[in-house]
Amino acid sequence: MMVSSMADLTVDLAALRHNYRELRGLAHPTTKFLAVVKADAYGHGLVPAARTLADAGADYLGVASLEEGLTLRQAKIAHPILLLMGILPQEGRAALAAGLEVAVYRLDVAQALEAAAAALGRTARLHLKVDTGMGRLGVLPQEVLPFLESFRGSPHVEFPGLISHLARADEEDKTYSEHQLQTFTEVLAAARARGWELPLSHLANSAATAELPATHLGMVRPGIMLYGSPPDAARPAPVSLRPVMSLVSQVVQLKRLPPGSPISYGGTYVTPDWCDLAVIPVGYCNGYSRLLSNRGEMLIQGRRAPIRGRVCMNLTMVEVTHIPGVAVGDAVVLLGSQGEDRLTGDDLAGWAQTISYEIYCALGSANPRRYVGV
Ligand SMILES: Cc1ncc(COP(=O)(O)O)c(C=O)c1O
Repeated sequence: MMVSSMADLTVDLAALRHNYRELRGLAHPTTKFLAVVKADAYGHGLVPAARTLADAGADYLGVASLEEGLTLRQAKIAHPILLLMGILPQEGRAALAAGLEVAVYRLDVAQALEAAAAALGRTARLHLKVDTGMGRLGVLPQEVLPFLESFRGSPHVEFPGLISHLARADEEDKTYSEHQLQTFTEVLAAARARGWELPLSHLANSAATAELPATHLGMVRPGIMLYGSPPDAARPAPVSLRPVMSLVSQVVQLKRLPPGSPISYGGTYVTPDWCDLAVIPVGYCNGYSRLLSNRGEMLIQGRRAPIRGRVCMNLTMVEVTHIPGVAVGDAVVLLGSQGEDRLTGDDLAGWAQTISYEIYCALGSANPRRYVGV
């Protein structure tokens, strides 16, 4: 394989489409589907990912910030878009002018949106966020009704639904998620009893979309499984997922070192024997975590090459003593498959003591992306 750049990061949009279809099949056809494309689509590129998912049939797109929402509108994506993390009061006008829906959890922000909607002659569509046990954004359950009631009769505000987020849906034991769901459905029922219809209420992330159908309600809201990884690295996803991101580099120098040679900063690895070492031009400035030092592996000629010494800013060294015939220019897979073997986001995450989400965000935002399967 010829690799023309030092860090060739590809995003396979056909795989993204495939994963969407697999996930879509897990929910009832009448349940709406919000594709989470926040944080630059977990590093996969906001606009290409959003366009692919919208074209594939997603009903809604979920982004993190006003800026991301506006970027999608500038890209002529007309789908409903929800700002999942809310906005600041002064951002209301811009959000409404772009037809963006907003998750709200602060009365002052909701009031600012109402005022902006009145000024623009529009209706603000607000998803009231409830903290059912995540301990993050959201009003507490007992605050939901007073919040809604303060907008009763407002011609400029409508609440399509309540929203919440599950803290432990990726775990095998679903007790905590069921407790969150119960809190959510109780609050929803109380609001409905007061005449708030809230048809588009939602709290199902990937894990809940896959394993907790009772949480699907009006809409599911998956992210990580669209990008090809299971929410819990320890358990395979119940549908076939295809990896979307891959990262390939090449050998830029080869050397044979005698026993006792220290490798990289701090000499944290010293060769116990003769060692064939390959230098790879990818480091932590490429989002390749320094925590992979002396722990991670790369693929060369379909075989595992272990990282020796510390990952540097632009370079990483791997041992290839056991791989015959390695040459300068050989393709090196850091994420993805080569020959019979594959390195997944979860493999890298395991070595770097994190989750696949962070691996994708870090690699995707630090390297130019090349799209295939368009
Ligand atoms: C509010 C919200 N909804 C949905 C998701 C999607 O979660 P996942 O990527 O685990 O499917 C996230 C991701 O962090 C989120 O913050």
